[in-house]
Amino acid sequence: MSTGTDPNRVVIFDTTLRDGEQSPGASMNLEEKLRIAELLEEMGVDVIEAGFPIASNGDFEAVSEVSRIVRDAVVCGLARSSRADIDRAAEALKPARRSRIHTFISTSPLHMKYKLQMEPEEVYKAVVASVTHARRFTDDVEWSPEDGSRSEHDFLCRCVEAAIGAGATTINIPDTVGYAVPEEFGALIRMLIERVPNSGKAIFSTHCHNDLGLAVANSLAGVQNGARQVECTINGLGERAGNAALEEVVMALRTRPDRLPYTTGVKTECITRASKLVSTITGFVVQPNKAIVGANAFAHESGIHQDGMLKHAQTYEIMTPDSVGLNKSTLVMGKHSGRHAFRVKLKEMGYELGDNALQDAFRRFKALADKKKDVYDEDIVALVDDEVLRANDAIKFVSLQVVCGSVGPQTAELTLDVRGEEKAFKATGDGPVDATFNAIKELVPHTARLQLYQVHAVTEGTDAQAEVTVRLEEGGKSVNGQGADTDTLVASARAYVNALNKLMVKREKTAPAAMSA
Ligand code: KIV
Ligand code: ZN
Repeated sequence: MSTGTDPNRVVIFDTTLRDGEQSPGASMNLEEKLRIAELLEEMGVDVIEAGFPIASNGDFEAVSEVSRIVRDAVVCGLARSSRADIDRAAEALKPARRSRIHTFISTSPLHMKYKLQMEPEEVYKAVVASVTHARRFTDDVEWSPEDGSRSEHDFLCRCVEAAIGAGATTINIPDTVGYAVPEEFGALIRMLIERVPNSGKAIFSTHCHNDLGLAVANSLAGVQNGARQVECTINGLGERAGNAALEEVVMALRTRPDRLPYTTGVKTECITRASKLVSTITGFVVQPNKAIVGANAFAHESGIHQDGMLKHAQTYEIMTPDSVGLNKSTLVMGKHSGRHAFRVKLKEMGYELGDNALQDAFRRFKALADKKKDVYDEDIVALVDDEVLRANDAIKFVSLQVVCGSVGPQTAELTLDVRGEEKAFKATGDGPVDATFNAIKELVPHTARLQLYQVHAVTEGTDAQAEVTVRLEEGGKSVNGQGADTDTLVASARAYVNALNKLMVKREKTAPAAMSA
């Protein structure tokens, strides 16, 4: 992919669906991945890394289906340097209008010796062979030296030159373990561009992890030193401390053109929606003080700041809430609103639902409007995400009746739809949440352990919907589930059931050796 005629245009490569999904607990099902891919495309992201096709059938299917629905963005699949990996990626990418194979191998002394147990010369040969093989399927091939920032410069230069010589059109330099500091990382990119004789034939890219909280700073330093692609994820999702956050990179470029005179194709007004969608799907709640998308990012609490803001917004506001698509909470509708108005509202908010999904969402909206005086945009988002994203789940919540209070025992009578068959059970427990979860365990026996239970209110007021996150762990694998309802216990049951559904998907995944990236 070229950056066109503008030498300062930065390609935004989103890896939420691949590196983002590698965060413990962040697994997503196909439906969820497709929704994120659709929104990434609407946002104007240039490249969507949709998965690691050889990692599991689920990853293969995700890359294949994302390839089918995405029209404008390039769809990318990750592969190690083996033929089998590359063949599988090429197969999954077949339906794509524009496809990219991203192949990688470690080049640092530490990784080559202990992880790969390969000599540098063997690695060098694998670079040439893998890129050459990938070029048989597409002329858009990206090559990454894993742990690039800790690799020896001479060897790295040789490998980069060989990769470009074999046909790689993008050279991505990962700071795999988030160890680099900005000046050093920028200098690494500059060194490669200056020293590698054929560097002009490829676009250089950054891929920075956030272990020291420097992923965005390192990515921007890379851009200032010649990189013209940034790999990033929504909300900075990713392994360990995550990847560079897309919204931070893009808004830094938009807000500081005086210092960072580079452009992207991202419609920044979609940022808030993308952040919410990824947070809802993964169950990773965004910290309130997170830059750009945290709940407090545009909130001015202190009197001095509020006074300044009233006199002139720019006294304390370097970017507007509108520029990231954050509009004031608007009162949307009440219980008298009809199906047509509901459909129009959903469209305005970026949801296009099929007839059945619309029917279900409308039914839940009516039920909510009956219980809650004011229904806000946030309520609609929580409700629709909750309903639509769970449409294909094997286990579905049906109903819950709870008896609780200071006089025990607390009981929960729960009905679930388990693969099309309704099953009910009445359980007791140490409190209503425990009773509810015990009922689920009876209806769907499993050995998973509850790692996290978290509740937050979607809007203000005592009639607000509760959004519950549940994290379950089984055999070292963890998943997050979410559920929303005005009744916290119903939301809890929905969240637990959602996590169980995800766990079932995760069980099917077989992680190949040395897959972590
Ligand atoms: O962090 C990493 O090194 C990666 C590579 C696969 C690009 O994710
Ligand atoms: Zn990574």
